[in-house]
Amino acid sequence: MTSNTSNKRPLRLGMVGGGKGAYIGNIHRIAARQDGSWQLVAGAFDVDAAQGHAFAAAEGLDPSRSYGDYKAMIAGELAREDRIDAVAICTPNFTHFPISKAFLEAGFEVICEKPLTATLEDAIELEKLVRESGRFMGVTYTYSGYPMVHEARQMVAAGQLGKIRTVQVEYPLEWMATAIESEGNAQAAWRTDPKKNGRGGSIGDIGTHAYHLAGFVSGLKLESLTADLATFVEGRALDDNAHVMLRYEGGARGLLWSSQVALGSSNGVRLRVFGEKASLTWFQEQPNELIHAKLNGRTELIKRGADDLSEAAKVRTRTPPGHPEGYLEAFANLYAGYAEAIRARRDGRAPTAIGIDIPTAYDGLKGVAFVDAVVDSAQAASQGWLTPIAV
Ligand code: NAI
Repeated sequence: MTSNTSNKRPLRLGMVGGGKGAYIGNIHRIAARQDGSWQLVAGAFDVDAAQGHAFAAAEGLDPSRSYGDYKAMIAGELAREDRIDAVAICTPNFTHFPISKAFLEAGFEVICEKPLTATLEDAIELEKLVRESGRFMGVTYTYSGYPMVHEARQMVAAGQLGKIRTVQVEYPLEWMATAIESEGNAQAAWRTDPKKNGRGGSIGDIGTHAYHLAGFVSGLKLESLTADLATFVEGRALDDNAHVMLRYEGGARGLLWSSQVALGSSNGVRLRVFGEKASLTWFQEQPNELIHAKLNGRTELIKRGADDLSEAAKVRTRTPPGHPEGYLEAFANLYAGYAEAIRARRDGRAPTAIGIDIPTAYDGLKGVAFVDAVVDSAQAASQGWLTPIAV
C-alpha cells in the first residue's frame, strides 16, 4: 500500500454509509477515534450523494475526500499517496458484498458490518477473496469486544467450567414489535425486505450476534441445528422471532433465541454457559460483570478491572473497576484489535493480545452459513413436531 509506515501514525479510515440519521456508522466513528489508532479521512456516507457530501462537510472532512459513491471513493483514494488504509462498511446488508469486494480487489483492508453478506454464495466468495488477496477483513460482531466476554472465553478455554454441556444465548429486542417498516422507518424497511436484508429476519439481524457470541465464549463448533421461525407482525416477509436448537461437536447442546418483538427488551443480550464443574452468565445490560457459579459451591461475581483477570480482558479495559465501561468501549476494542492486526501483518510479526481473537471474514461466513441453515431448517417439512395425546 502506501510508502509511509502505518506504525508511526494513526491508520487512515474511510467509511461507506453511516451518513445523517444512520445508526451504526456513528458508533464506528466514536469507536475508531477512541484510542487514537484511526483517523477518519474519507467517505461516501450516503446512498444520496448530495446528502453524503453535506454530511462529510459537517464532519469537517477535506471536501476532496468526500465521494458520491464507493466506486468514486476507490478511484479517488487509489490516486493519492496518503490513501486510506481501510474502509468501514456501514451500509445495509445487500450492499456489503459488492462494496467489500471492490475495496479488497483494489488492495484496501476492510472492516464490514454483520451479517457479512445477504446470501451464502456471496459470503463464500468474499471469504475466499479475503484469503486469496491477503488483505485483512474484520466483521464487527460487537459483543466479542467486551472484556468480560473475553474473560469468559479464557475461563472456558482454561477448563474452569469443565466439559461444556449446554449453552443458552438470547438476543431479544422490541423496536420492531409493530409494522414500523410501513410507517416510514427506513431502518426497519430494509431489514424486512428479503432482497436487502437476506433470508433471515431477526435471525440474520441479531441471531448472528448471539450465534457468534455463543461460539466465541464456549469454543464449541456447531454440528447441526433445528429451527422454528415465526413472523408475528402481519404482512412481514421475514421472521421476527427465532428459536434454534443447537448440537455442538462433542455432544454439547445449545438454545438460541432472537426476537425483534420482545416487549420490554432493549438489547438484552444474555449468554449462559453450563459445564460439568461450573457455569458462567454474562448479560450485556451489566457488561462489567460475569457470574461464575461452581458446582455445590460459591457463586462469585467477577468484575471488570480486577487484578487477577486474564491478559485478554485487561488489554480491553480502560477505566478502573467501578467506573462503568460498555458498548462504545467494546466497539472501540474491535477497532483497536483491527488496527493492531493490520499493523502486525504489515510488520510481519505476531499481533499483541488486543489483535488476537477478533472477529474476521471467516466468522462472518460462519454467521451467514448459520442463518442459511436456520431458514432451511425452519422451511423443511419434517421437523419432528408432535402433538401430545389429549390428556
Ligand atoms: P441505516 O439504515 O441506519 O444506515 C445505512 C446507511 O447506509 C445510510 O446512511 C444510507 O444512506 C447508507 N447507504 C446505503 N446504501 C449505500 C451505498 N450504496 N453507498 C453509500 N451509502 C449507502 O442502517 P444501520 O442500522 O446503521 O445498519 C447498517 C449495517 O450495520 C447493517 O448491515 C446492520 O446489520 C449493521 N448493524 C450492526 C450492528 C452491530 O451491533 N454491529 C448494530 C446495527 C446495525
